[in-house]
Amino acid sequence: MSHHIRFVVSSASNNFLKNNYNAITTRSVSSWWSKVEMGPPDAILGITEAFKKDQHPKKVNLGAGAYRDDNGKPYVLPCVKKAEERLAAKNLDKEYSPISGNGDFCTYSINLALGEGHDVVKNGLNATVQGISGTGSLFVGANFLSHFFPGNKDIYLPTPSWGNHKPLFTLAGLSIKSYRYYDPHTCGLNFQGLLEDISKVPKRSIILLHACAHNPTGVDPSPEQWAELSALIKQQELFPYFDMAYQGFASGDIMKDNFAVRLFLQEGHQIALAQSFAKNFGLYGERVGAFSLITGSKEEAQRALSQIKILIRPMYSNPPIHGARIVSEILGDNELKAQWLKDVKGMADRMITARTKLKENLVKNGSTRNWSHITDQIGMFCYTGLTEPEVTKLTKDFSIYLTKDGRISIAGVCSNNVEYIAHAIHQVTK
Ligand SMILES: Cc1ncc(COP(=O)(O)O)c(C=O)c1O
Repeated sequence: MSHHIRFVVSSASNNFLKNNYNAITTRSVSSWWSKVEMGPPDAILGITEAFKKDQHPKKVNLGAGAYRDDNGKPYVLPCVKKAEERLAAKNLDKEYSPISGNGDFCTYSINLALGEGHDVVKNGLNATVQGISGTGSLFVGANFLSHFFPGNKDIYLPTPSWGNHKPLFTLAGLSIKSYRYYDPHTCGLNFQGLLEDISKVPKRSIILLHACAHNPTGVDPSPEQWAELSALIKQQELFPYFDMAYQGFASGDIMKDNFAVRLFLQEGHQIALAQSFAKNFGLYGERVGAFSLITGSKEEAQRALSQIKILIRPMYSNPPIHGARIVSEILGDNELKAQWLKDVKGMADRMITARTKLKENLVKNGSTRNWSHITDQIGMFCYTGLTEPEVTKLTKDFSIYLTKDGRISIAGVCSNNVEYIAHAIHQVTK
C-alpha cells in the first residue's frame, strides 16, 4: 500500500517537473551557495594543466614536486614493489586501524627520524601517531599545539616557506608570523637576517623549521649554523616544530638529513616533528606520515598521546592502512631496508647529478651568471633566482613550466632535456 502511494506521488512530481522545467531553471531561484565566490586555482596544479594543453614537442614541466626517473616517468621504488608482493602473499584483512595508526609503523617512524636506539625512544618520551602523509601529520600537530601549547599561539615560518604551511596552521587556529630566511642576492641563506629576526621573537612562541631540503628554496643551514640556531632558539625559549618531508631524499643519507633534529634533541629541546613518506618512499598517493611530540616523561607522553587521539577521532577517525604496511614491511626487514637505502640514495644522487649537469650546460651555453647556487642548494627544488618576467618568457618562448617565483623541480631535469633547459634559461637571462 505504502509502495503504491509513493509511486503516485513520484509520478505526479515527475509530471510537474516536465511541465515546469524551463520555468524552474530560468527563474532566479535563490541558492544557499549563491554568495560563494570562485577561489583561485592551486598555483602548482594550474601549471600542470597549462603544461598538458601545450603542444610543443620539447615542453618541460618543472613545476610539480614529485620525483621522476631519468626518462621523466613516475617511479615506484623497487623495495616498495617487493614489499607489496610480500603483503599480497600475507592475505591481510582490511579492518580499521587504531586511531593512532599502525603501532609498528609508529615505532619504525620515530626510530628512522632520530636514529635507532635513541634515548628519547628508549625512555618512552615520544608520543607518535601515524598521520595522513606530511600534510596531515603537520595538521594533527598544529591542532595539538593550538589546543595545548602553553605559550602564545604564534607560529613563525621562514620567508619563503612551503605554500601549504600558512593555510594549514591558520586553519588549526595558530597565527602566522615570519622570520627572514632566503637571501635573493646570494640565492642562499640570509643567516644574519634569520638570527636578527629570531632574537626578536617573543618568548614562548612556536618556530617552524624545515629539517632538511627547505622547500621552496633548497637552502639549508650548515651544521655550524644549525648549532647557533639551536642555541638562540633555546635562549629565546621558543618551541621548535620540525617539518621533515625529505629524510634521505635530500643527501641520500638518512643520518645526514636528520642532523638538525638529532642536534636539537641533544641540546635539550623538546620538539614536535612531522614526517612524510611521500618523497623518500615514493608513496605520494598512499598518504603515509607520522607526527611525534617529544615530551618530558613517559607519563607525559601518554597523556599527550591520549589528547592527540581525541583530536584525530573527529577529523578522520583513523588513518589508511596500506601505505603504513608497506613502510613497516620495508623498515622491519633487513634486506628490504637495505634495498630502500639504496633506492632512496639512487633518487638523491640522480637529482644531485641533474644539478651539476644543468650548471655545466649553462656554462657551455656561454652564460656568465653565477649559477653556483644550483649545486649549493639541495633536495627536489632549486630556487633559480629567475625573475617573474624571465619565468614568463621561459614558458612562452620555450614551453618550460615552473612557478613564478623561479622555483624549478630538479626531478624534472633529465639527460634528454637538460641541454634544452640550459639553452632556454640562458636565452632568457643573457
Ligand atoms: C616542506 C614540506 N612539508 C610537507 C610536505 C607534505 O607533503 P605530503 O602531504 O604529500 O606528504 C611537503 C610536500 O611537498 C613539503 O615540501
